[in-house]
Amino acid sequence: MFEKAQWICNSLESVDVCPVFRKVFPLGKTIEKAILYASALGVYDLSLNGEKVGRQVLAPGWTCYDRRIQYQKYDVTRLVKTDNTLEAIVAKGWYSSPMPGWENSEDKIARMRRHTGLIVQLDISFADGTDLSLVSDSTWIWSESPLRFAEIYDGEVYDASFSSYDWKPAAVFDGPTELLFSQEGEDICEVGWVAAREIIVTPEGERVVDFGQNVTGYFEFTVDAEEKARLRVTCAETLDSKGNFYNGNYRSAKAELVYIAKKGRQTFHPILTYYGFRYIRIEGFDPSCRAEDFTAIVVSSDLKRTGSISCGVPDVDRLFSNVIWGQIGNFLDVPTDCPQRDERLGWTGDAQVFCKAATYNFDTERFFIKWLKDLALSQRPDGAVAQVVPDYLPGGEPSAAWGDAATICPWQVFQTYGDRTVLENQFPSMCRWVDYIASTTKRKNLWIGGTHFGDWLGLDASEGSYKGASRDDFIASAFYAHSVRLVVKAGKVLGKDVSGYERLYGGIVKAFREEFKECLTQTEYVLAIGFDLAADRKKAASELAAMIARDGLSMKTGFVGTAYLLHVLSDCGYDDLAYTLLFRREYPSWLYPITKGATTIWEHWDGIKPDGSFWSASMNSFNHYAYGSVVDWIYEKAAGIGHSEDCPGFSKALIKPHPDKRLGWLSATLETRNGRIVSSWECIGTGVRYDISVEMPAEVTIGEKVYEVGPGTYVFWS
Ligand code: BGC
Repeated sequence: MFEKAQWICNSLESVDVCPVFRKVFPLGKTIEKAILYASALGVYDLSLNGEKVGRQVLAPGWTCYDRRIQYQKYDVTRLVKTDNTLEAIVAKGWYSSPMPGWENSEDKIARMRRHTGLIVQLDISFADGTDLSLVSDSTWIWSESPLRFAEIYDGEVYDASFSSYDWKPAAVFDGPTELLFSQEGEDICEVGWVAAREIIVTPEGERVVDFGQNVTGYFEFTVDAEEKARLRVTCAETLDSKGNFYNGNYRSAKAELVYIAKKGRQTFHPILTYYGFRYIRIEGFDPSCRAEDFTAIVVSSDLKRTGSISCGVPDVDRLFSNVIWGQIGNFLDVPTDCPQRDERLGWTGDAQVFCKAATYNFDTERFFIKWLKDLALSQRPDGAVAQVVPDYLPGGEPSAAWGDAATICPWQVFQTYGDRTVLENQFPSMCRWVDYIASTTKRKNLWIGGTHFGDWLGLDASEGSYKGASRDDFIASAFYAHSVRLVVKAGKVLGKDVSGYERLYGGIVKAFREEFKECLTQTEYVLAIGFDLAADRKKAASELAAMIARDGLSMKTGFVGTAYLLHVLSDCGYDDLAYTLLFRREYPSWLYPITKGATTIWEHWDGIKPDGSFWSASMNSFNHYAYGSVVDWIYEKAAGIGHSEDCPGFSKALIKPHPDKRLGWLSATLETRNGRIVSSWECIGTGVRYDISVEMPAEVTIGEKVYEVGPGTYVFWS
């Protein structure tokens, strides 16, 4: 592929204006098929004869560009005519945007200096049996375009009145053709449209459009305007306590659009950027514009929905909806922490804690396969896993529970979908990660030392710290055990000799029990029990339950502990307490943000505090999926949908619902690789009715009774 195509660019000095490249070509013969291949250093928007090519946006997507760059393939047979104009606008995208906002490392500066480029090949087969391959080369021309600026954090400047095209020959350069590979992840597409709810005039007199839902993507508007009228749109996720526009939490990201209008009625949406927003402030717009003139366009990796949950408590339904929106908004080719501020990075820890829920909500197999390959590619020579993938923080220290994404995500993807490919791909990377730990620790069989994020945002943190009170060495050693165990399991699936890792695992468990005789925090208990490290599981669980009670029946866990908390409680017979935590509405809890109007999952339990003030703007995302991991407990424990590790992909389902009167009823559906599972229950009087439907063999456990069933629909009572 691309053997004859050349990389082209506008000129060698870096400029902000986005170039448009053009090739005009006549075709005298009848065409049978036309296939277009394209990629860019940056992001491209391609059109043939004025029509957008394909559904994808922000192509070629985001990979470790210095190791591999995706290209896309489009069937353009329908678009080719006798006289043709092929055009592509290219912008910085993730390739040369100033990411992350707060750093000034040499690496970042070098990335920002990278010049954008384009590569294209159009293969045409004619009806007479002949072929033609048309490629990007020095015969292409380029000009400045109406897109005066486009970048991930700051948004766009678009001049619709621009007409001074000045076409010059494109420059050819020696680009990384050998790094190109056919797209592996899902297409990034416009996946939804949200109509504006209303236009508000804030107490400060600003006009703000409310879409009623925090989304990721961009906004479209239709306006009547004068030639060269200057319109400005700025994004926000929330209003402040007085109802004024607030985007302090975007930090240095401008997240805006400056639009220079042409005369008359026009419709526009940004092209080569994206934003996270529920509100947009509009400036320069005609006072007569109405809510109907605005639509939010949702941009995401185009994932098929596979899981759904509904129940008798509307706020829990809203919680689930918030998780879904958070996943849509942050699964944009890479699992990102957030879509709004000057960050939007593939944080490994966030992806790891949310991975299970993600694989149930949507079909994420391709998505994770692609991202995990980048994780492996960006592993350092000693096996250390980057904090973020693609690695835009190369100076960062590898952290426990973040780097463990290397083992946890592949294992989860295999468990949910049942295909070994992900393990085959990742096994060397999994081993390298645990080998790294062995090489870096200060004490054999534990992970002692290092710099970690700890139980990030745990509520038992000391004043001014983001790290919960759980000990770094405890968390790191617990995850070391967990990861080594996953390496053993994966190795066995693949038929590898993992006896060395088995011995290592035994050694870690022994050393862990000797070193950490007691647990000091909720998260420490959760990890000790959840990873089978507690010598006396029953005792540890009752101590955890007592600690939660002492803490006012509320959790103190951060990113690390929260993901496992309810599972551990349910597994040890504390369903009641798990539900109590789920239903809690006061801060800190999953439902508290909902009482404050949240439409996505927040980074902090109290992003908006009970008195209406904000958590510090220095780190306060309102669309951060990590705590959304709770929905995997709803699927697996409340609805009881599961499988044994020997039946990955749900080849045989294990259904064991855990009903609770306070929830009233629950219905969960999961589309698995082996068919659909529906698990519903309803509390009626003093009993419970269960409606279970499976398309594979299943073992259904209702109370103490176990039923072996084949595909079918079943009703049980208890
Ligand atoms: C990100 C997190 C991430 C963390 C690492 C934050 O800035 O938003 O979600 O995991 O840093 O500590």
